[in-house]
This record gives sequence, structure tokens and C-alpha cells, in this order.
Amino acid sequence: MPLFMPVGIIILGIGSPDNKSGIYHALYGCREACCEIVKTGLPEIEPERRKMMKRAMAKTLRTGVVFGLFISLCGTGIAFAAAKSYEYGNVLMSQPGKDNTALPVTFRHWSHRGKYTCRLCHVDLEFTQLANGTGVTEEDNRNGMYCGACHNGKEAFALEACTRCHPKDKQHEQELAQQAKREFQELKKTLPPATYGNKIDWMKAEEDGIIKPKDFLQGVSLRKNEKMVNSREEPRTPALPGLPNIIFSHAKHVIWNGCGMCHPDTFALESGKTPITMKEITEGKYCGRCHGTIAFALNDCTRCHSKPVLNPGS
Ligand code: HEC
Ligand code: HEC
Ligand code: HEC
Ligand code: HEC
Ligand code: HEC
Ligand code: HEC
Repeated sequence: MPLFMPVGIIILGIGSPDNKSGIYHALYGCREACCEIVKTGLPEIEPERRKMMKRAMAKTLRTGVVFGLFISLCGTGIAFAAAKSYEYGNVLMSQPGKDNTALPVTFRHWSHRGKYTCRLCHVDLEFTQLANGTGVTEEDNRNGMYCGACHNGKEAFALEACTRCHPKDKQHEQELAQQAKREFQELKKTLPPATYGNKIDWMKAEEDGIIKPKDFLQGVSLRKNEKMVNSREEPRTPALPGLPNIIFSHAKHVIWNGCGMCHPDTFALESGKTPITMKEITEGKYCGRCHGTIAFALNDCTRCHSKPVLNPGS
């Protein structure tokens, strides 16, 4: 990582706004999705805009945001490159503070998220949206909470099959991982493809009716409040001229997330109130809580930065 710092400084120095895509490449390296932004999102640069970009650069440089962003994007870039499609969204559950003689339990989002909405687990069943935040115990599971709400021999395999979740030893852990990998490959064949993350387009799978995530679990969920809908779109203009705008769609998110996964903890209930920056997103805040961990990966720049700005600054 320290290697990136001098390299970053040098590239930032060379990357002048005179060069159409120079500053974008300097900021993000020549990653495929970013180059795409440069291709699709950037209009020709006229002298006026060039000046404006220079001012914008100077401003962001002063606050150090650009530099921080570059470093963190490099870091997350490496992390993304390392995450394999069948491991994307896996959570190693190993509570800190517990005397862990047992091996961590791997919870796989890919094997569950096609069957249930995010909301069902994260609101009704109260799993936190933070690895190891929940503090699941054997007793909780037996009382029908958490994993035990489904792993009861009816909805899913019973708790008695301890070793399907708890590996016996390192070798058994490997075997469980290999088996999961094979099951993932089988599932993937049945779903529409995507470029990053699980390499599965979950949203299209839902839209096409290939998967029908359940939003209700008998004895746990209250009846869905049909009145809780919000089809408002929240447009956002990123603080770097030329980058395409972000369109946040309530309608598309509510299918999976209900309201409680985002409000009031993550986002204000007022348009434009939540201050969001790309750096914080890459650090796992705001949109980055789900995107880059479970929902589509952050490499997919143009899925969020989707609306080209033809005349920025005006
Ligand atoms: C559906 C998956 C699943 C099954 C099946 C399962 N567990 Fe667990 N168990 C978990 C998870 C998840 C945790 C929490 C791990 C963590 O956060 O560190 C846990 C935690 C534990 C713990 C440590 C926490 C505590 O309460 O002390 C023990 C002990 C345990 N399980 C025993 C068992 C036994 C014995 C069985 C079989 C009768 C079993 N589990 C079956 C998922 C499962
Ligand atoms: C079957 C239940 C279930 C479903 C469905 C589910 N999750 Fe999770 N999720 C979990 C569990 C369990 C954890 C781990 C919590 C812990 O370790 O305490 C988790 C963790 C997370 C985390 C934290 C990950 C990290 O690395 O810190 C995020 C973010 C998250 N889920 C988002 C989602 C989103 C978005 C969806 C829908 C696409 C979803 N979850 C669907 C059970 C579920
Ligand atoms: C909302 C219901 C639900 C909850 C909650 C749930 N599961 Fe599952 N799980 C299922 C279903 C359904 C299957 C697939 C059917 C089966 O294998 O019985 C499954 C499959 C699995 C599998 C086998 C596939 C794989 O991912 O390797 C494991 C392991 C597993 N669950 C672990 C867990 C753990 C650990 C938890 C809690 C942290 C949990 N599950 C919580 C419903 C649930
Ligand atoms: C995936 C996250 C997410 C989910 C789920 C979500 N929202 Fe939002 N919501 C946002 C964001 C982001 C904003 C914009 C906040 C900002 O600009 O500061 C917002 C803004 C709002 C606002 C203020 C703007 C407006 O539309 O008047 C309301 C009200 C609102 N949401 C209600 C809801 C309701 C009701 C639900 C459930 C049906 C819901 N939201 C589900 C992320 C979400
Ligand atoms: C999950 C959606 C999402 C993805 C994916 C995404 N962005 Fe962003 N981006 C945002 C949001 C939201 C903002 C903040 C807009 C605002 O200022 O309100 C933002 C802002 C920015 C900014 C403005 C400067 C700043 O720090 O806020 C830049 C530059 C940027 N993104 C670059 C990228 C690049 C490059 C990628 C791909 C590697 C990417 N983004 C992927 C949602 C996303
Ligand atoms: C609580 C989790 C969560 C949060 C927070 C969240 N998303 Fe999403 N988002 C999802 C899930 C789940 C999907 C479905 C697709 C998938 O899983 O890859 C999705 C889909 C999308 C899509 C594709 C749908 C469309 O409109 O074309 C976009 C774009 C998007 N999110 C942008 C954002 C932006 C921007 C933010 C922050 C303002 C954000 N998301 C915050 C979970 C989340």
C-alpha cells in the first residue's frame, strides 16, 4: 500500500485536465469500468470547462479528498480483485471476545438472498448489517431466533446437523467450502450473468421471476404494511464535474430492503440531507454498506453513475 502513495502523487501531478481522460485515469487507474465512464460520460472539453475542472481539482486537492479517494480506491480495487464470485457476500461469523475454540461459521448470502428478501433477515429476524454484530448463540438458535428461525427441519435443514454450519476441523472447513463452490456454480447457471460481485444479476433474476424472494415468515413477520411504498427517485450530482449523475430508485430498492434497512439509521428522511462522498462509500458507509459487500460491487461505477451529464456546471 505505501508504494501507491508516491505513485499516486506522481500520477496526480501528471494527470492534467488538459488531457481529456487524464485526471480520471490518474484518480482511478485504468480500470475497465472507470474507463467506461470516461468514454460514455465525458463530453469534449472546452476551454471554459477546462478552467472549471482545474478549479475543481485545486479545490478537492486542497481538502485532500482526491488523494484519499485514490488511495482507498486502489485498496478496494485490490480487495475486489481478490474476492471470488462464489465468496462475494460471504460473512465469516466468529464473535470477537468469545473464546473461539470452534471454527468460524460461514454464512453465504448467495445461497439465501434468492429465497428471502434482505428485509426479512435484517429487520424481522434482527441480524445486524455488520459482520459479527449480531452475537448469535446456540441458545438463541434453539429458541427459534436467528438461523434457528428457519433451520428447524421445516423451512430448512435442522439445527441438529451441527456440522453443516460448524466445521469439525480445518480440512472439513475446506470440504464445506468446496461443496458450496460446486452448489454456487450450479445456481449461477440458472441466473442471468453480471460482470462483478457474484457475477449474477440478482435484480434481473427477480424482475424476470426466476427468483421470488419471500418477505414473510410465519410466526416471525408481521403482515406486510402495503401502504409503506415510496416510488420517489433521489437524483444526486457527484462533486466532480463530468461524472454521470446518480439516480437512486426507491421503487427498485424497496423490493429487497423494505424501509427499515435504510431509514432512519443510514439515510435522513429528507432529500439531499445525507452528505455522501465516494470515499465514505468505499469505506462501507451509506450506499457502501450494501454495495461492495452484498449488493452489486463498487467496480460497477456506471450502474450508479448512470445519467450522463451533457452540460455540467450549467
Ligand atoms: C444453521 C447453521 C447452524 C447450525 C446447524 C448450528 N449452529 Fe451453532 N451457531 C451458528 C452460528 C451462526 C453461531 C454464531 C457463531 C459466531 O457468531 O461466532 C453459532 C454458535 C454456536 C456456539 C457458540 C455460541 C454459544 O452459544 O456458546 C455453539 C457452542 C454452537 N453454535 C453449537 C452448536 C451445536 C452443538 C449445534 C448442533 C446441535 C449447532 N450449533 C448447530 C449456526 C449454526
Ligand atoms: C437468510 C438471512 C439473510 C438474508 C436474506 C440477507 N442477509 Fe445480510 N446478513 C445475514 C447474516 C446472518 C449476516 C451476518 C451478521 C453477523 O455476523 O452478525 C449478514 C450480514 C450482512 C451485511 C454485513 C456484511 C459485512 O461484511 O459486514 C450486510 C451489508 C448485509 N448483510 C446486507 C444484506 C443485503 C443487502 C441483503 C439482500 C440482498 C441481505 N443482507 C440478505 C443474513 C441475511
Ligand atoms: C429466512 C430463513 C433462513 C435463515 C434465517 C437462515 N437460513 Fe440458512 N438456509 C435456508 C434455506 C431455505 C436453505 C436451503 C435449503 C436447505 O439446505 O435446507 C439454507 C441453506 C443453508 C446452508 C447450506 C448452503 C450454504 O450456504 O452452504 C447453510 C450452511 C446455511 N443455510 C447456514 C445458515 C446460517 C449460518 C444462518 C444464520 C446465520 C442461516 N443459514 C440462516 C434458510 C435460512
Ligand atoms: C436502500 C436504501 C433505502 C430504502 C430501502 C428506502 N429509502 Fe427512503 N431514502 C433513501 C435515500 C438515499 C434517500 C435520500 C436521502 C438524502 O438525500 O439525504 C431517501 C429519502 C427518503 C425520503 C425523503 C425524500 C422523499 O421521498 O420525500 C422519504 C420520505 C423516504 N426516503 C421514505 C422511504 C420509505 C417510506 C421507504 C420504504 C417504503 C424507504 N424510504 C426505503 C434510501 C432508502
Ligand atoms: C452504489 C452506487 C455507486 C457506485 C457503484 C459508484 N458510485 Fe461514485 N458516487 C455515488 C454517490 C451516491 C456519490 C455522492 C454523490 C453526492 O455528492 O451526493 C458518488 C460520488 C462520486 C464522486 C464525487 C467525489 C466524491 O468523493 O463524492 C466520484 C469521483 C465518484 N463517485 C467516482 C466513482 C467511481 C470511479 C466509481 C467506480 C469505481 C463509482 N464512483 C462507483 C455512488 C456510487
Ligand atoms: C440496505 C442495502 C442497500 C443500500 C444502503 C443501498 N442499496 Fe442499492 N441496491 C441494493 C440491492 C439489494 C439492490 C438489488 C441489486 C443487487 O443486489 O445487486 C440494489 C440495486 C441498486 C441499483 C440498481 C437499481 C436501479 O435503479 O437500476 C442502483 C443504481 C443502486 N442500488 C444504487 C444505490 C445508491 C446510489 C445507494 C446510496 C444512495 C444505494 N444503492 C444504497 C441494496 C442497497
